[in-house]
Amino acid sequence: MSKSAELAALIQARAGAAPVRLGLILGSGLGHLAAAVQGVAIDYADLPGFPHAAVSGHDPKLVVGDLEGVRVAVFGGRAHYYETGNPAAMRLPLEVLKALGAEAVIATNAAGSMRADIRPGDLMLLSDHINFSGLNPLIGEPTEARFVPMTDAHDPALRARLRAAADAEGVALPEGVYAWYSGPSFETPAEIRAIRLLGGDAVGMSTVPEVILARFLGLRVAAISSVTNMAAGLGTERISHEHTKAMAPLGAVKLEKVLRRMLRGLGNDPI
Ligand code: HPA
Repeated sequence: MSKSAELAALIQARAGAAPVRLGLILGSGLGHLAAAVQGVAIDYADLPGFPHAAVSGHDPKLVVGDLEGVRVAVFGGRAHYYETGNPAAMRLPLEVLKALGAEAVIATNAAGSMRADIRPGDLMLLSDHINFSGLNPLIGEPTEARFVPMTDAHDPALRARLRAAADAEGVALPEGVYAWYSGPSFETPAEIRAIRLLGGDAVGMSTVPEVILARFLGLRVAAISSVTNMAAGLGTERISHEHTKAMAPLGAVKLEKVLRRMLRGLGNDPI
């Protein structure tokens, strides 16, 4: 049995065998969404091979259960490239998600904005991304499946569902391009000017490897940023992880509204 199948069996033994439909990966300071799910929480430490996800502002638990009548798996912590130097650290969790039956995954993150119309406390739906790091979680993957097409990687139908849900909730959900910067240091103002020139709207230290891995595994994917600050050189606040954690919950409240509304409208349609 593969490692992901073994872990999926372990999770199903604790949380029930009904197939999961959607995965949610929670970014820094966005953890309270896990508490909204009625289900079973399993510490990553009980899931051999899961990342330690030790960054503060993350709660390294997998919660499997119901949100608005839809079976979801919520990853309370993610592994960032900057923790270990491994861009594929989220591969096993995503393989497990697939083995649990998921059709799709929504990644969330905290991000800095480079757009005057997207302010701290706002959400941004990723229309696309720029892999500013040059890293790739599929380096070393031996099969032909590694040549993953990334056109429409951010699933148009899932994005349309999320936009409609946001509209219905009166939550602004502008779309924009997210640039992945490796971190863990924040960007310099010159780097932000460069990323802006290259077409980025928001910048952050995660999500892109997960989008690549999800597409590799055949999971449909969307991602939402909770903007915690204007990017370096564009705002007056001092950028810090403390500030990120303090600001992210503003977006989390909106995120929960949008996700709940989207799931409520789902019925038996594909996500
Ligand atoms: N840059 C990178 N990552 C971030 C930022 C930022 O400005 N804000 C929150 N996460």
